[in-house]
Amino acid sequence: MTRDDADWWRQAVVYQVYPRSFADANADGIGDLRGIRSRVPYLRRLGVDAVWLSPFYPSALADGGYDVDDYRDVDPRLGTLDDFDDLVAELHASGIRIIVDIVPNHTSNRHAWFVEALASPRGSAARNRYIFRDGLGEGRTLPPADWTSAFGGPAWEPVGDGQWYLHYFATEQPDLNWDNREVRDDFLTTLRFWSDRGVDGFRIDVAHGLAKRLDDELPDQAALDALPRDGGHPLWDRDEVHEIYAAWRAVFDSYSPPRTAVAEAWVDTPRRPRYASREGLGQAFNFDLLEAPFDAGAFRRIVDANLALASESGSSTTWVLSNHDVVRHATRYGLPEPVDPREKHGAAWLLSGGVHPVLDADGGLRRARAATLFMLGLPGSAYLYQGEELGLHEVADIPPIERQDPAYFRNPGVDVGRDGCRVPIPWRSDGTSFGFGSDGSHLPQPAWFAELSVEAQQDAPDSTLALYRRALELRRDLQGSERLAWSPTEHDDVVRFRRDGGWEVVINFGAASVPLPAGEVLVASGPLPDGLLPAETAAWLRVTSAP
Ligand code: NOJ
Ligand code: CA
Repeated sequence: MTRDDADWWRQAVVYQVYPRSFADANADGIGDLRGIRSRVPYLRRLGVDAVWLSPFYPSALADGGYDVDDYRDVDPRLGTLDDFDDLVAELHASGIRIIVDIVPNHTSNRHAWFVEALASPRGSAARNRYIFRDGLGEGRTLPPADWTSAFGGPAWEPVGDGQWYLHYFATEQPDLNWDNREVRDDFLTTLRFWSDRGVDGFRIDVAHGLAKRLDDELPDQAALDALPRDGGHPLWDRDEVHEIYAAWRAVFDSYSPPRTAVAEAWVDTPRRPRYASREGLGQAFNFDLLEAPFDAGAFRRIVDANLALASESGSSTTWVLSNHDVVRHATRYGLPEPVDPREKHGAAWLLSGGVHPVLDADGGLRRARAATLFMLGLPGSAYLYQGEELGLHEVADIPPIERQDPAYFRNPGVDVGRDGCRVPIPWRSDGTSFGFGSDGSHLPQPAWFAELSVEAQQDAPDSTLALYRRALELRRDLQGSERLAWSPTEHDDVVRFRRDGGWEVVINFGAASVPLPAGEVLVASGPLPDGLLPAETAAWLRVTSAP
């Protein structure tokens, strides 16, 4: 693949770095850009095609950096723009592309625009960049509507003069008004700013939320929830959002190769292709596997449905099992009750801080390795989240005082939040913060990180790290067209497909061993004794005969 290959993203493996938790170069307990740079050789050895950096912009971290103070700068705790340029150069020199996160639905409350809005009167141009409304009742002391924010608690906040602003997420994340021309133009400037610095693509946060239409009379929460999300909903997935992305596309295409984008759009599945189309952002996350149980029928249906959607949009499909917002998949697959990966409600084990001995840690990891190997065999692009290549479990026992996620603070006793997948990853088996840095870690790391560190796994042939490395190496060599052909199986619990070039992926979701299909084993997620494919195991095979 050459650097100007415009289609580089179609089947890329993209590795998500959560910058504050990856590597700390200056011993302040917070991961930084120079830390990431120092680990480029690791990423190269792992075999990823691109790195996606979650926000590294100046931020008070009310929402882990998704509360952006300035879209065209680096958080001084994480480095400087020069450090960013050095990181881009280092990644590119290693043949790795870079994607950055754009957060257009809301700024932080410390952004210059919001500071100006608060200092400006009702009806001012400064307030028009956000969504301000008069409160209801005498003295306008009641919110304009009873809406609940995504993190719990009210979605409208008073500013002291009878007006209230909308924040669909945390109070510190005021929603922007995308009907405002200045807002639109400023994001085009931001996209050019990072493209000019050599960024290859963008991940678009809450891509389905930008266009809003709030009438004078606002529906209450129940009425809002009942409205169909068919393009006309006041807040979500409005058809006009695509006009915004058409303008972004013009910016992307003014570069060579065109800059790419992937939408984080939690929309009804049939509405996803529009975000992924060539006229729009070009690709959209598909979270279906991430939300699915470890089940043959579910996995197979999801693959079929998403390959069909990809051919509708002309994009390639995307696969995700873990990210910074969900319980790590090794843990999801090890808990007895299904965990809603997004809401985390009902996950008694997590809420108990891991004191209930219900986690089947080994089984969860076994299933995670199998599911990952299956996913990496699929056509399309795969998004990996830092630490999954080490088989990390969710960290459940973070003391309340150390927690950071607003989802935890705004939902006491209901949602434990997302800190458990954001704990700095272990590079070494001992030493301060397991090699993350040399002076501690901003979230506490558990003792069990020692045996899962990069150091502990890198020379162990059966380690999860070795499995990822081997699969990514093979994937590069084997990658063909974006098609697959299902192969028949004699067991409902077994799913098997063939890719161009004569290789096959097989996974056994069941509890009993099954015969291994004929072929040379290229990689397997676990041992394959006696020519069998054991329970909850996947393998890739080189095959020569017809299926
Ligand atoms: C989605 C991001 O992935 C999540 O981390 C963030 O809290 C929300 N968007 C709000 O920006
Ligand atoms: Ca640091």
